[in-house]
Amino acid sequence: MSQNYNVIDLFCGCGGLSLGFENAGYNILLGIDMWEDALVTYRHNHKNGKTLCADLSKLSPEKVEQQIASQRVDVIIGGPPCQGFSIAGKRIVDDERNRLYKAFVRMVSYFKPKAFVLENVPNILSIGGGVVRDSIVNDFTELGYKVTYKVLLASDYGVPQNRRRAIFVGMLNEKTFEFPAPTVSTPVTCKEAISDLPENSIEDGGDYPCPPLSDYQALMRKGCDKVYNHEITNHDERTKQIIAMVPDGGNYKDLPLELQQTRKVHIAWTRMNSNKPSMTIDTGHFHHFHYKYNRVPSARESARLQSFPDSFVFIGNKTSKLKQIGNAVPPLLAQVIATALKKQLK
Ligand SMILES: C[S@@+](CC[C@H](N)C(=O)[O-])C[C@H]1O[C@@H](n2cnc3c(N)ncnc32)[C@H](O)[C@@H]1O
Repeated sequence: MSQNYNVIDLFCGCGGLSLGFENAGYNILLGIDMWEDALVTYRHNHKNGKTLCADLSKLSPEKVEQQIASQRVDVIIGGPPCQGFSIAGKRIVDDERNRLYKAFVRMVSYFKPKAFVLENVPNILSIGGGVVRDSIVNDFTELGYKVTYKVLLASDYGVPQNRRRAIFVGMLNEKTFEFPAPTVSTPVTCKEAISDLPENSIEDGGDYPCPPLSDYQALMRKGCDKVYNHEITNHDERTKQIIAMVPDGGNYKDLPLELQQTRKVHIAWTRMNSNKPSMTIDTGHFHHFHYKYNRVPSARESARLQSFPDSFVFIGNKTSKLKQIGNAVPPLLAQVIATALKKQLK
């Protein structure tokens, strides 16, 4: 029997969370998502790469069990997208808006894994003054899990990005999960992450233009000697002229007054700061620009800032790739959580 813990990943997307667990030595049995684009990327990059394209709100645990040929499930991981929770008293109710969260609870209830890891946006902890948070804790406590939660900052764990995520971990048998301490004291910067990638596109399978210029770049290039997904966006002239006025680390406030209102969101015309981790990589809304070039980051640059190794190749059109990347849990962060959990499961 395999010594590794078996995992299923719910709402797996392209598999950032899965990759972290895989790198920590877990055996991923199955990734489930309803977005086939992301699953194509998932299958292309994961060792076993078994996926199921299904709407989790309607998927029965029995069907999942069939898919994994009744193998033991040790850990369930996933980030159910939460469209806003509906609450009655102190409980999350069983209605349409909560159906994805409830699907996660249903799978844990059926498979009774040794542990689960549920990832979400940080404000899940404060909605309704903490009612959602308490309700999640109660739901899984009733199933026999000891639940802890914490907001983790990805840049504390070697990811060149100030992404915050709420992580709930539940363990059976009265064990309390201890969250890992930060693994780096000095965060990895944007420049350390992407300065080796050029201003212009590189055709898929092309050569790197230079050797790695930082330890982080060397780490990301491990096992990969060609560049993929570095297709740049050609903005119109006006966009290029406006962003050219914003310095490294600046934003719309650096623009002349008459240009400050050209985009109606406060994050508009923001340039990454080369000496800091990046802001949260989103799903491609084109407001965050490269610290040096007059364009938004390519899919490969975004993937680097999310700590996807260069060997992880994204498939789909540009919009789809950026969405897959922006949706993901940074694999390095996932790996640190997975490693801590593995030690504590023993
Ligand atoms: C935040 S992303 C997950 C990212 C993933 N954990 C990673 O690390 O790459 C959420 C995913 O939920 C999927 N999703 C949304 N509604 C779903 C449903 N009803 N059934 C299955 N998957 C769904 C989306 O397609 C999306 O890929």
